[in-house]
Amino acid sequence: MAVIALHCPQHTVTVFDINKKKVAEWNSDQLPIYEPGLLEVVQQARGRNLFFTASDIDRHIAESEIIFVSVNTPTKTFGQGAGRTADLQYWEKTARMILEHSSSDKIIIEKSTLPVRTAQAMENILNTNAKGLHFEVLSNPEFLAEGSAIQDLENPDRVLIGGHDTPGGKKAVQTIVDLYANWVPRERIITTNLWSSELSKLVANAFLAQRISSINAISALCEKTGADVEEVAYAIGMDSRIGPRFLKASVGFGGSCFKKDILNLVYLCESQGLPEAAAYWEQVIRMNEYQEARFVANMVSAMFNTLAGKRIAVYGAAFKANTSDTRESPALAVCRGLLAEKAELVLCDPHALENARLDLGDDARLVTFEIDPYIAAEGAHAIAVLTEWEDFTRLDYKRIFDSMVNPSFIFDGRNILDRAKLFEMGFNVFSIGKEPLLHFNQHPTE
Ligand code: UGA
Repeated sequence: MAVIALHCPQHTVTVFDINKKKVAEWNSDQLPIYEPGLLEVVQQARGRNLFFTASDIDRHIAESEIIFVSVNTPTKTFGQGAGRTADLQYWEKTARMILEHSSSDKIIIEKSTLPVRTAQAMENILNTNAKGLHFEVLSNPEFLAEGSAIQDLENPDRVLIGGHDTPGGKKAVQTIVDLYANWVPRERIITTNLWSSELSKLVANAFLAQRISSINAISALCEKTGADVEEVAYAIGMDSRIGPRFLKASVGFGGSCFKKDILNLVYLCESQGLPEAAAYWEQVIRMNEYQEARFVANMVSAMFNTLAGKRIAVYGAAFKANTSDTRESPALAVCRGLLAEKAELVLCDPHALENARLDLGDDARLVTFEIDPYIAAEGAHAIAVLTEWEDFTRLDYKRIFDSMVNPSFIFDGRNILDRAKLFEMGFNVFSIGKEPLLHFNQHPTE
């Protein structure tokens, strides 16, 4: 919304949230999320044509012509489809609230990611009204990635708008096309029917996650065979049909979207009587869980089959670099695995410690949170690098090595460190999808 406001000064954008604390933060220079470049955009538009508010929702609804609904749609935890499909209660409540306070026709945009055909349900709720009002529901999924959100919005690969093939639907789609055309080249704004748009969002995320699970499956094989997963990724990525992006083997993918969206897709396939298609996509998630579990298992086996009482410095809590977000972070999954082994954890992250503390819940009691990576590693047996923050590549690892217990281990879950150098310093180095570099003979465990 901030980027829309920035590029469309002729429109007024009001962002409403029920969370007063968050709204106050949006109105300050301490935004509630860490996202490079966002504050600058907000500062340019805020107070001009961008407003954040937690009050007078009735007036804001009544005055608006277009409403973007971006409420959360977490995975349902109860009843039918629990653990799979999206919980639509917030969306439906919002639709009813819009209806209650409206006195003119409006365009309603699904910005939240939703199961296919949700727009229909919302249209039914909205248009069954005695006020004679008409609501045109469109789907306009968001494709930005955290950490590069501003760049992605400024220069998107595409903007997708789905609507009905009726005169009203076409008119509404054109209104939104014109909005984005203020800064996005027209040929990158694509329009489809509603269901294609809803499904494309789920499928885009499923395909991206599938690439990571595919390369991660190969990383396991590389560790057994002496192949190097980065070399393999490079070699296959040179094929223009495959392409080089999203082939970085890692400790696993995280974030609030990939797992949720794939689960949604799986549920959709199942509910349409397509169990084979459902099982195919579910395997992308299973492979990700396997990769996280395998990382912990590798640590246990490398460190003489016991982590109990051993201090381990965990570098990174965020699900990826350049964000404070820890939702579904593989780093926290690994932390839980290490805690189950009774390791003593020191968690270090430049921006995500507060969210990590909240997300770890009861387990947070067992973890020391430390912003300084040098202090975190003092007296540690091992370091596990779990988020690809650039900060971690610039540390003085010799100094760190000298402060650790011997033999010292480093497990690079993101392949961001210079492993040859670390090995030379004295570390035993484990990377994803590469043979370990060890200063002693490791006995095969089988
Ligand atoms: C993802 C999609 O990339 C966006 O297009 C989409 O809009 C967004 O979900 C959403 O639905 O909201 P995001 O989750 O912010 O964006 O971040 P990604 O860059 O996709 O990374 C997801 C996870 O995969 C991270 O944990 C990242 O470290 C991991 N990853 C990514 C890898 O392990 N290897 C790679 O090669 C790429």
